[in-house]
Amino acid sequence: MDILSQHRTIRKFTDKSVSKEILDSLITSSIRASTSGNMQLYSLILTQNSDVKDKLVPLHFNQPVALSAPVLITVCADFNRFSLWCLNNKANPGYDNFLSFLTTSIDALLVAQNLCIAAENIGLGICYLGTSTYNADEIINVLQMPKLTFPITTIAIGWPDEIPLKTDRLPIEAVIHSEVYHDYSASAINEFYAMKENLESSKKFVEENHKQHLSQVFTDVRYSKKDNEFFSEKILQTLRKQGFLNE
Ligand SMILES: Cc1cc2nc3c(=O)[nH]c(=O)nc-3n(C[C@H](O)[C@H](O)[C@H](O)COP(=O)(O)O)c2cc1C
Repeated sequence: MDILSQHRTIRKFTDKSVSKEILDSLITSSIRASTSGNMQLYSLILTQNSDVKDKLVPLHFNQPVALSAPVLITVCADFNRFSLWCLNNKANPGYDNFLSFLTTSIDALLVAQNLCIAAENIGLGICYLGTSTYNADEIINVLQMPKLTFPITTIAIGWPDEIPLKTDRLPIEAVIHSEVYHDYSASAINEFYAMKENLESSKKFVEENHKQHLSQVFTDVRYSKKDNEFFSEKILQTLRKQGFLNE
């Protein structure tokens, strides 16, 4: 619980590499994660200071954290390996559909978060790169990923070169529902988000983006409907290409 409550994303790493022994031990413990039917529907692609990294970093929109990290781990949804095992043994895999994509994505995320906690437990820092899904198609090409695979997320890992302040969280009352979902009144919403809105960093964010309210920074700048629709269509096309959705 201490490790979990100390979490903060690290975006600046030292030059020190992360040894193969450490990576192997982190991964060995992470893959103890529960997975659907114990099928282990994921793969982890490790990129370390190579030509591949030079190709990947621009696909993560050249985020300095991607450049600074000695290791990038692309966590992939993977129904390819399991399907090949089925085909080798006269079993007919029926995993070219959306349910299978969801199942493999869940498996991949559970391993990803285990990996992050294991890394933090030994003093490493991590940053998720959401850009993996935005540029999934291009990442698939660079990493030579076959059908029935998809990059769900990327974890930048390294030894921290900063100790950022912990970010805010909503109060637990905001996320807990007793027995059934209790939808939120306007006043409850105001109360739950007040702390976030009143942070100096939030106020600065609103001002810098010339908005009236913090929520508008999310809707109009960071995660706009236009961008969401553009990337949704791009991802759907990639899912078709990867064989998870009908062409
Ligand atoms: C799915 C996902 C995608 C993320 N993508 C990025 C990213 O592309 N770049 C980045 O700097 N941080 C990224 N983050 C980190 C979040 O910004 C961070 O977790 C959040 O602001 C809370 O901060 P904390 O992790 O320090 O508590 C991502 C986190 C998640 C879970």
